[in-house]
Amino acid sequence: MFDYAKAFRVDGKVALVSGGARGLGAEMCRALAQGGAAVLVTDVLEKEARGVVEELKASGAHADFLKLDVTAESQWEEAVGTATRKLGGLDVLVNNAGIETMQFLTETSVEEFRRILDINVTGTFLGCKHAVRAMRPGGAAGKGGSIINLSSIAGLIGVTALGAYNASKGAVRILTKSVAVECGQLKTGIRCNSIHPGVVWTDMGRHFLQNFVDLKLVPDLATAESSFKAAHPIGEFGQPRDIASATLFLASDASRWITGSEMVVDGGYTAT
Ligand SMILES: NC(=O)c1ccc[n+]([C@@H]2O[C@H](COP(=O)([O-])OP(=O)(O)OC[C@H]3O[C@@H](n4cnc5c(N)ncnc54)[C@H](O)[C@@H]3O)[C@@H](O)[C@H]2O)c1
Repeated sequence: MFDYAKAFRVDGKVALVSGGARGLGAEMCRALAQGGAAVLVTDVLEKEARGVVEELKASGAHADFLKLDVTAESQWEEAVGTATRKLGGLDVLVNNAGIETMQFLTETSVEEFRRILDINVTGTFLGCKHAVRAMRPGGAAGKGGSIINLSSIAGLIGVTALGAYNASKGAVRILTKSVAVECGQLKTGIRCNSIHPGVVWTDMGRHFLQNFVDLKLVPDLATAESSFKAAHPIGEFGQPRDIASATLFLASDASRWITGSEMVVDGGYTAT
């Protein structure tokens, strides 16, 4: 009989997570480590990311830290090299690092637009590029793998004052499909999928609500919270573990026939 419990685990795999210092990234590191993977926690926030590594190690997992600014190609080369040399391979990449700022279109500077695209899109592109080089047959890791890109429901629907972020997450969505198709057709054994969270209770999620107050789109934070909660038919914001669970599934062999898909984890937000 097929061993489903085993298929949903990631024992023996090596995972690299960008933006792993806090929020969704930190919880994904916990989920992957608990699932049996060795985890390379990366971020620009060194102290917080090292804290996550210590926590994982204390629970018996194999984990390490490397400083990685996702916009720097040389740092991606180093990160992929560290995963393959120090942790023994590269089977899973989670392109989680991202930023969000809100401003009306007419007030958005080109510098800010480019900064958001640089981190959210160029960072994801560079991660995919160097992970594919390592994971494909003949690469430094060479066993295929799973790439998971963090898009957003903002990659599917427009939101007031979120033009730059909307554009970036839409780009992540379709870049994911391009990587999936290319990797499939070139027989690399690499899958690539995107995750589209609704509002999740992290630093970013909290700032998102505060921005609606700051831009005078709602009178106060309580109104922002209640109206956004109501926009999720399940009636509450997501928790980091809701996104980490989806990540673990896409990293595991239980999802071996899923590639190029967009996994919407949004409490029903986009179903309405
Ligand atoms: N929280 C939400 O409601 C929500 C919803 C949809 C999508 N997302 C996406 O999920 C991902 C994680 O979001 P979060 O809520 O945990 O955000 P967060 O702000 O709490 O954490 C983001 C992490 O990315 C890191 N980071 C930022 N710029 C970086 C860079 N240049 N290089 C490396 N690391 C960098 C930060 O240091 C931080 O640790 C993001 O891509 C975000 O767009 C979040």
